[in-house]
Amino acid sequence: MSTQRLDFKIDNEKLFEAFHLAPQFGLLNDPNGLIYFKGYYHVFYQWNPKALDHKYKVWGHFISKDLKNWHREPIALSPSAEYDSAGIYSGTAFIHDEYLYVVYTGNIRDSNGESCASHQNIARSADGLKFEKLGEMFPHPKGYTRHVRDPKVWRAANGQWQLILGAQKADTLTGDIILYQSNDLKNWQFRGSILGSQLPNYRGYMLECPDLIDFGKQQVLMFSLQGHAAEGERFKNIHNTGYVVGNFDHQNGVFNVNTNYQEFDYGFEYYAPQTMNLANNKHLIWGWMGIMPAAVEESLPTKKDNWMHILSQPRELVLEQNHLYQLPIIETKELFKQKQSDQVMTWEAKLVPQYVKLTNVVDFELKITENLVLELSNNKLTLLRISWHNGMKEVRTVEAVINTLEIFIDNSTVEIFVNNGQYAFSARFFGDVKIINLKARQPITIEQNF
Ligand code: FRU
Repeated sequence: MSTQRLDFKIDNEKLFEAFHLAPQFGLLNDPNGLIYFKGYYHVFYQWNPKALDHKYKVWGHFISKDLKNWHREPIALSPSAEYDSAGIYSGTAFIHDEYLYVVYTGNIRDSNGESCASHQNIARSADGLKFEKLGEMFPHPKGYTRHVRDPKVWRAANGQWQLILGAQKADTLTGDIILYQSNDLKNWQFRGSILGSQLPNYRGYMLECPDLIDFGKQQVLMFSLQGHAAEGERFKNIHNTGYVVGNFDHQNGVFNVNTNYQEFDYGFEYYAPQTMNLANNKHLIWGWMGIMPAAVEESLPTKKDNWMHILSQPRELVLEQNHLYQLPIIETKELFKQKQSDQVMTWEAKLVPQYVKLTNVVDFELKITENLVLELSNNKLTLLRISWHNGMKEVRTVEAVINTLEIFIDNSTVEIFVNNGQYAFSARFFGDVKIINLKARQPITIEQNF
């Protein structure tokens, strides 16, 4: 199997993945504080540099000028204060008065090592690299358990700061999203739930990592739902990220939900995403491709190389008819320099990474490894994987009329975009990519990029 190095680089260090952000060592989870500041794209992330577990977290840090070449910066924030002694948990970033501000959850553990409290904290940086902690923002809200975390902050048109958090209600032990507002970033007023009694069936036991994405006339509220049972082919992962479309009424502190809760990614591993909002109203999103049951995580093959998990490639979000389209970005495509187009019924490729575009699609089978097969049959697209954990078959599907597919294959990662981003499937896989092999019922157009 030949692998090639793309122009994508994290300085010159050894890359485990050709074009995905991964930790050098230790365990990575959620993307945090995504922002463009003073000429650089900043991607912070949940990182345990000490062990391959979730007991301790700092904010790791990547920066890039072009979304292709990345530089690994020193740890941006680590536990040091009473209010964040056991972990710098997830949070977001915003710019104010020339400073890059971040707000994050500080996790606290008791003498037995169990998480017992959380605090919402603020820090700022003049250069985007070194941060000064400014302290805790407000006391823990009444009516909620210790599960209050993952602040997202933005500024409303009238200048007022808005801050939402994932939370668990103390009376029902179900998930919620709560709002604080401030005129000066110092005094915060608790406004309560932004959902009220809406979405009663999508509360699980906790809602994590809320994000509000502003598309002008409409807003999207995205969150990661814990403790929700699968509905047929949907919501089959242990925890699931999804969204609703509606309007955020900041005066009344309510998000008026106008749609059902829709699953965001149809694959196996995608969770706790966050958006980066750019000046031209572009919204890029990164997710954590590592959500999995603890036993499956325990057996992750990269453990032997002392690292775990990756971030997804960035995707651009477009809202059309109450549906979020997610498109691979041009910068990722530009990493692939050579291109070949053909009309084929069978096709084989030896190189990884690959970016393959299929158009005028008819029923086919695409074998990426012996353990990972993508299949289209009668308008049903199926991603079939043999679990690295227990050797069982696992399947994710979507039923739709399918015209185009864009498939990005990295050394142990696949991201599939269906119908120009209408659906996306993300998955890790392990096992040798000996040959990527396509068989179709009739000729289809294949564009191979490598
Ligand atoms: C989501 C999450 C967040 C939390 C972070 C801790 O994956 O559980 O709710 O802030 O991870 O690493």
